[in-house]
Amino acid sequence: LVSRAVAGALVTGEFGPFRQRVYDLFHYASQETGGQVAAYIPELAKADPDAFALGGCTIDGQRLSIGLNEGDETREFCVQSVMKPINYAIALELLGEEVVHTYVGREPSGQSFNEITLDRLRRPHNPMINAGAIMTSALIRPTHDMNSRFDFVQRVWRSASGGEASSFDRATFESESHHADRNYALAYFMREHGGFPEEADLFTTMELYLRCCSIQTDVRRLAAVAATLANGGVNPVTERQVFQRETVKDVLSLMLSCGMYDFSGEYAFTVGLPAKSGVSGTMMIVVPGVVGLALYSPRLGAQGNPERGVEFSRQLVRSFPWHVY
Ligand code: DON
Repeated sequence: LVSRAVAGALVTGEFGPFRQRVYDLFHYASQETGGQVAAYIPELAKADPDAFALGGCTIDGQRLSIGLNEGDETREFCVQSVMKPINYAIALELLGEEVVHTYVGREPSGQSFNEITLDRLRRPHNPMINAGAIMTSALIRPTHDMNSRFDFVQRVWRSASGGEASSFDRATFESESHHADRNYALAYFMREHGGFPEEADLFTTMELYLRCCSIQTDVRRLAAVAATLANGGVNPVTERQVFQRETVKDVLSLMLSCGMYDFSGEYAFTVGLPAKSGVSGTMMIVVPGVVGLALYSPRLGAQGNPERGVEFSRQLVRSFPWHVY
């Protein structure tokens, strides 16, 4: 970092003014007050609707974070569907693209994240919706016991977060486990159609999926994960290779086309950046080769994305020339 700074070669140029511009966009987005906290998982319904936080980490390892209210900046939340790109990445690293995509497609579904539907080849449409993430969870070391599988996933989160461990929100895990009929229905549906890997047990797969949704982090650590993806799989803080470049290419491609529920097409059109949202109100935005950003704002719009996160994204590409096209 120091040598790049001395050489005047930091991606964001001068970091102070860059950070200030990003904070201005954050404050602008905070004026958006629409949306509702997700209520279908009782534990999530307890979130503070007005909480708002942003974290950022450049590929040079320069960091920013800000919260709107006291305590927001360091508030912990569970990642929910933001686990989906990570479990997909892990499955790719373990089995390779060809094998993984015999089990899961790579086409947007155009339907809601928990729709009971499969593609023509009887696979879940993509790894960014519930069915697809249950499938990628089934592919993560299915013959190992639960604790070692979950440890394995958490170790990946830790390295992608720059060495800082992510905790586990047991209350949300338990709350969601008691309200998981739809997810079980998806798993049974896939098994009925012969799509489940033979060695994977349905119940342990579901437990791993739900545990991963309840991994807890904050905007600072999540921004480092996004920055790892922005930096070709190398965490910018530790300079450790967490994912292969090919893996990151696949993950970002599907985040761009499928990461924002059935709003993904609109988001790709207007914002043009790979992103992934989760029903807890969190969101990860990746600007390849520049910066990883993480947001937390529990109020969700009609398609289930954090309203302020979407507004922030729109403003971001108005201020910086980062739309991929
Ligand atoms: O399985 C569920 O319904 C939640 N654990 C995850 C939902 C979520 O964030 C949807 N995202 N695409």
